[in-house]
Amino acid sequence: MHPLPRTNDEWLDLEQQYYMRHPLRTAPMVPERGEGLYMWDVEGNRYIDFQSGQLCVVLGHSHPRYVEAVCEQARTLMQTGTAFSVPSQILLAKKIAELMPDPLQKSIFACTGSESNEIALRLAKVYTGRFEVVSLTHGYHGQTYGSYSISGYGGAFRDGYGPGVPGVTFIPEANCYRCPLDHHYPECGIACAKYAEYVLDTTTSGKPAALFFEPLMSAGGMLVPAVEWVREIRRICTERGILMVADEALTGFGRTGKWFAFEHFGIVPDIVTQSKGLGGAVPLCAVTTSAEIADRAMERGFMTFSSHSGDPLLCAAGLANIEIIEQEGLVENARVVGDHLKAGLWRLQEQYDIVGDVRGLGLCLGLEIVTDPKSKTPFGAGVITISKYCFDHGLWLAGVGLPRKGDNQQDTVLRSFQPNIIRLMPPITLTIQQADEALEIIEGGIKAAQDEAPRPSAVSIQAAS
Ligand SMILES: Cc1ncc(COP(=O)(O)O)c(C=O)c1O
Repeated sequence: MHPLPRTNDEWLDLEQQYYMRHPLRTAPMVPERGEGLYMWDVEGNRYIDFQSGQLCVVLGHSHPRYVEAVCEQARTLMQTGTAFSVPSQILLAKKIAELMPDPLQKSIFACTGSESNEIALRLAKVYTGRFEVVSLTHGYHGQTYGSYSISGYGGAFRDGYGPGVPGVTFIPEANCYRCPLDHHYPECGIACAKYAEYVLDTTTSGKPAALFFEPLMSAGGMLVPAVEWVREIRRICTERGILMVADEALTGFGRTGKWFAFEHFGIVPDIVTQSKGLGGAVPLCAVTTSAEIADRAMERGFMTFSSHSGDPLLCAAGLANIEIIEQEGLVENARVVGDHLKAGLWRLQEQYDIVGDVRGLGLCLGLEIVTDPKSKTPFGAGVITISKYCFDHGLWLAGVGLPRKGDNQQDTVLRSFQPNIIRLMPPITLTIQQADEALEIIEGGIKAAQDEAPRPSAVSIQAAS
């Protein structure tokens, strides 16, 4: 028998032979161990994890009390299947109801964020008896067929898969840095919401079942909509009997400095989908709605289940995760440390022209990297330089990732969701000191990219030719 690979490169070479490597699998190192904010690769190199295991490990890696709760449940009862009601499931549903505003009360569980949106789609259709769905042009809701169909994006994300489910209409999101209507906030009077209403009324029956939105669009470019936009969308839904679905797969459970991101906007959605930060390190998702919607939908035959809907193991992990967030005051921590990190990023924006925009809430922050603030030309190559610098200095950023050995850099940029956005989403246990440590590294990366940025005159000449 051959010995196991030892280095990062040896493991990646072995992977090449046996694993279907997709374009977003870009990390050039192979993690072996995690603890708190840090991950170590198979060669023993340490990295600050500013991606929190794809935004899931809100407590950081292997929080001791979380691990203890998972082990305890694993020793007791791990999986039962659909037929059984188990205590951790019931207690988790009760806990979520306590965290949500009225009338959001009843939950159902499954595994991934994609699944949660799939369930919300079915729930909304059965409850309303309607079939059309509205979503946002850069919304991301998952990879299953329904959730993929209500996700925006074109290009590589659509290419080769044929049409999605019928009856989906896309409206523009609020993007005040790059307004699709070329307006300026707040003088615009939220023209994008008016246009959205126009599109909805002219391209649907006027009676869709649901409207899906992310209160903070992560894959869409770390966009935080204006409060008025969200309230307008709430009004549009209420007036037409459309169920407003907040996809909090990524933003829920403290990440934005509130338990749920929709709370920043003073509205209450009809359905909330949750995942990632709910289970922490295990695949758990929830769909929460009012008793009225849940009960009526059940009467009308709503049914959704899978072999792993609300496994005791997953729900016990979710419960422990939430209890630790509560007991350690991590929602408040995300707000305070997030504000500190954001202030540091604003300082960098003042100093470096390539930092076009700093945005986000709590510890869900983004940097838009441009060649210069005037032209706002997306500078994807700059993001690679920053990410590479940070990687070399022990900081893993969420963003486009890095080209691996033999990869074409341009392909890596083109395949990413938003190639010129850097996403900063560390565990919500982050301390001020750790934030400063990361900021120092990020500044080094930005400096390096700034030196490589095409000069504005060269950009305008290029654009003109
Ligand atoms: C807002 C949002 N919804 C849904 C999903 C899909 O979740 P999952 O990857 O767990 O299927 C994601 C994943 O990033 C997401 O960001």
